[in-house]
Amino acid sequence: MSVEIAPKIFTDRINRIEVSATMAITAEALKMKAQGIDLADFGAGEPHFATPQHIKDAAIDAIQKNFTKYTAVPGVPEVRKAIVDRHAADFGSNYAVDECVFTTGGKLALFNAIQVLVDHGDEVILPVPYWVSFKDIIQYAGGKVVYVESDEAENFRITAKMIEAAITPKTKAIILNTPSNPSGAVVSPADLEAIVRLAHAKGIYVLLDECYVYLTFTGDVVSGGSFTDCKEHMVVLGSLSKTYAMTGWRAGFALGPKPIIAAMGKLQSQSTSNAASMVQKASIAALTASQECVATMRADYITLRDRVLAGLATVPGLTCTVPQGAFYVYPNVSAFMGRGGMKTASDIAGGLLTEAHVVVVPGEAFGTSEHIRLSYAVSADVIDKGVERIREYLTKLQ
Ligand SMILES: Cc1ncc(COP(=O)(O)O)c(C=O)c1O
Repeated sequence: MSVEIAPKIFTDRINRIEVSATMAITAEALKMKAQGIDLADFGAGEPHFATPQHIKDAAIDAIQKNFTKYTAVPGVPEVRKAIVDRHAADFGSNYAVDECVFTTGGKLALFNAIQVLVDHGDEVILPVPYWVSFKDIIQYAGGKVVYVESDEAENFRITAKMIEAAITPKTKAIILNTPSNPSGAVVSPADLEAIVRLAHAKGIYVLLDECYVYLTFTGDVVSGGSFTDCKEHMVVLGSLSKTYAMTGWRAGFALGPKPIIAAMGKLQSQSTSNAASMVQKASIAALTASQECVATMRADYITLRDRVLAGLATVPGLTCTVPQGAFYVYPNVSAFMGRGGMKTASDIAGGLLTEAHVVVVPGEAFGTSEHIRLSYAVSADVIDKGVERIREYLTKLQ
């Protein structure tokens, strides 16, 4: 009797990755909202602000002028020039236009950079806690993730020493995300410089995710691109999503050595081609107009951070580090494990969603088991309502 073997449908590479946990939570929250449930939603990592008017106007103008066709794959020269000029003005970098590729969101810049640099068996160093997508994108490329644990008592700080200890002959790249999603930790300028110089000396690539760089609250902001003598091994990954409240537009970029940028352009030419033409025009407006809107939003985030921290401090048993950037808090919920049948952060996040109608993301998605992530890019009212619900729910857990 012949035994039927089910044909293998999916590739090994797609089987190596999971659906983004933050997207899964967002989908569940949307379902509950559609049922009319009033949620306090700290789940999605996106600004609650509207995209500034002058950016919207530039896109509308582009459409009216029929700027609606294909462009050069890496973006029109004007948008790439706007990116390198903005970066040079803010961080003292010196990228040329052909050292810049404009992408359909920052996530694609990261994805393409990893696809062109990381091969099967290559090791990529990733500080923990990490943004969900880093791990999966490395694994999709066949790379091996080498985790570097940070210490909560040290505010999840990542140092050059910690990175150095993880380097092996197989290390191809180091991922840094500062300020960090989910912890809000910032790599100090001195440590950033030390890591960039160490990597350059060893021929290892630094993939520096600057998605939240304009939401740094410490004042002293440095980019890896600032160390121009180490450019050969530096790839800066940028996004307009959070800086200009443009998450839905899908506008991102990479800055790096010309051959890497050209390889990313080659990959892009066989996948998405150019990012949307009118989005490129909107991005030029965002990058070249007054940056006052960015400063205003940053100031608001600091106020919201302080509000959510003050609220969470009233929850007995909950502890929370003080984030230095981005718009997330990452409280420790270990005191509640073992109460009310709660064993994991996922159990607690699930209970908060179904019982308290509060959306948070469990720490397992970011590589730690004792935390939940709250995005405080929401209104003050949502913070007050949500924190009160968290307090009530967690206090009642026995
Ligand atoms: C750390 C980090 N990098 C990159 C991105 C990608 O942003 P986008 O693709 O919207 O530009 C995100 C989005 O949440 C992020 O948190």
